[in-house]
Amino acid sequence: MIYTILVNKENVFKESFLNRIELMHYKDIDNEEILIEKKTLDSFKMLRDFLLEKNIEIGIESCFRTISYQEELRNRLRKEKGEDYIKKYVANPNESEHLTGLALDMAIKINNDFSSGIEEEAIYKRIHPYLHQFGFILRYPKGKEKITGYSYEPWHIRYVGKIPATIIYKNKLTLEEYLKEFGCVLYVNKPKNITSYDVVHEISKLFGIKKVGHTGTLDPLATGVMLVTIGKATKIVELLTAEDKEYIAGVELGIKTDTYDNTGSIIDKKAIPNNINLEKVISSFQKTYLQEVPIYSAVKVQGKKLYEYAREGKKVELPKKEVTIKKIEILSKNKKDFTIKVLVTKGCYIRSLIMDIGKELDTYATMTSLERTKQGTICIEKTNTLEEIKNNHFTIHNIEEVLNYPVIKVSKQEEFLLSNGVKIKDKWNIEDKIIFQTEEGKLIGIYQKEQEWLKTWKNF
Ligand code: DAL
Ligand code: ZN
Repeated sequence: MIYTILVNKENVFKESFLNRIELMHYKDIDNEEILIEKKTLDSFKMLRDFLLEKNIEIGIESCFRTISYQEELRNRLRKEKGEDYIKKYVANPNESEHLTGLALDMAIKINNDFSSGIEEEAIYKRIHPYLHQFGFILRYPKGKEKITGYSYEPWHIRYVGKIPATIIYKNKLTLEEYLKEFGCVLYVNKPKNITSYDVVHEISKLFGIKKVGHTGTLDPLATGVMLVTIGKATKIVELLTAEDKEYIAGVELGIKTDTYDNTGSIIDKKAIPNNINLEKVISSFQKTYLQEVPIYSAVKVQGKKLYEYAREGKKVELPKKEVTIKKIEILSKNKKDFTIKVLVTKGCYIRSLIMDIGKELDTYATMTSLERTKQGTICIEKTNTLEEIKNNHFTIHNIEEVLNYPVIKVSKQEEFLLSNGVKIKDKWNIEDKIIFQTEEGKLIGIYQKEQEWLKTWKNF
């Protein structure tokens, strides 16, 4: 998160940031002592070595600055270059991202002397396509002056981390746009023994984005498909959570635990009848029924989570929810255990389903493993592991791709009507929802059918 800190004309620098980073000593192109944030320095050295192999030698002209130094610099440059230059290129003392130690101005060695400024643009341009591989972005690109507040500075680069830098570079964004406008969904393969929250937290850190959500909790024991929404895509969490889910679950017969799975303590045992008809019982569960929510769950009753009642040993009536088991089949079976594959609607607890199956078999059944193999149309084969994500080898999916709604590009005139909240007629004859994009393919919003009209469901 700290590497994507935004410092600009609207977001002044807060000095407490310096308590969270480590500043290292280094030498600038004049061999003077400078300070630079640790990760920024490591990445700069790697970038410099990489560029040396391409016969480009870079050095640092300016990096960490204090507020008083920025003020001094501003006054000096005002005298040397005039007010116009200041407006275009020099930040107010507390609005410069040089105060973070994460931004630096590159100079280029030409015939034994370092040179910088717009006259070296051609060489800077050769460097720009590689910056993201080292976690840097070109912070003030051409054509984005209105967004960044500064003129094009081909020399000023900013460390943000490899994942943000790659997305910013590939999508031609600025840091401002990345933090405010960007949205995507990741198909994560959740590993065992960590919580869904741990996955969200890790991804939030890697992307440097605070708004990250997931679409259906998987307990620490469970693995498999977890859709993680980032930035603006958190707006579609409820649509994704509502999708059907497919699981493969392991079951052990004859034991009952407090949590209904093998992470809990065994609280009872019951002999397994000799003549059980597993196939018959399993196929009888392809139905809609009222399922009791397990006590070890975060569902709230009178403002308190069910597992809190359990921990305090307090009695509570467990709520029931209607669920549908759309498909259920046995994948393998032994005397004391079996594996099933199920397709269920939103809110179905597989460990409760398994417990209910146990009752029908006249014994106990406890869940021993759980893998979510599908959510909606997204199957496990399409997921990335956390390792792949950490190594920047993963696919990002945009909102249009994840939702199975028609996507329509509207005319400028229709866009104008939509942005003014004018209802438009459903000339596409849609079933439920529709996604509108601008002529250029930018997401406008999701609209919902209401009789022959389309009403805003969510704007982006
Ligand atoms: N040149 C950049 C905008 C600064 O002064 O921080
Ligand atoms: Zn700079």
